[in-house]
Amino acid sequence: MKNILSPSILAADFNILGQQIIEADEAGAEYIHIDVMDGIFVPSISFGMPVIKSIRKTTSKVFDVHIMITDPIRYIEDFVEAGADIITFHLEATDDPKAVIDKIHSCGIKAGISIKPGTAVEELTPVLDMVDMILVMTVEPGFGGQSFIPESIGRVQKVRKMLVDRGLSTDVEVDGGIYVDNVRQILDAGANVIVSGSGVFRGDIKENVIKYMEILDSNNL
Ligand code: DX5
Ligand code: ZN
Repeated sequence: MKNILSPSILAADFNILGQQIIEADEAGAEYIHIDVMDGIFVPSISFGMPVIKSIRKTTSKVFDVHIMITDPIRYIEDFVEAGADIITFHLEATDDPKAVIDKIHSCGIKAGISIKPGTAVEELTPVLDMVDMILVMTVEPGFGGQSFIPESIGRVQKVRKMLVDRGLSTDVEVDGGIYVDNVRQILDAGANVIVSGSGVFRGDIKENVIKYMEILDSNNL
């Protein structure tokens, strides 16, 4: 299973966003993580389709769009049109996760589902074999720069086991409070798609990505 770095642009300098995405891309990041917040599902508001559409011109890397929005089915087509390659929505944000997954797949892209730190991992059971990626939040969604919740390690292990028990090799993504000094234990727990905002965009982007990739590449299973 391939390990992938997905830098979260929420921590980038929006004044030079395109430039910083190119830097992360050229240093070896395979995905670009794009956090969309609606001010209802989470308290803050980030950005939406016009920004995604605009940065789509800067890179051909995979746009890993994490939507923290209520009733996500309303906007799936718009995100696809803006350039999303993967859309990950929250299990807690909809009454009908299967309909959202089907909608994403009908647009020809990958579907991910995410759970907040307080949601039992068992709640994923009905959709495990329908999704391409499971995002286990390792902080409360809403803001960058928070501390990694240590209990997340056990939750990632559980999710990976649930998948393995069913013969599934689905990607497991983690998001929040991840840096080069704790990423190894998160990979060991069973995650293979690593989101990092502050850990990539604070300081030297190229150096940070290279450090991450050394660890990620040496842990490929
Ligand atoms: C939080 C977002 C994260 C956030 C991660 O709601 O989903 O993607 O940007 O930021 P860091 O890596 O700084 O914790
Ligand atoms: Zn995110």
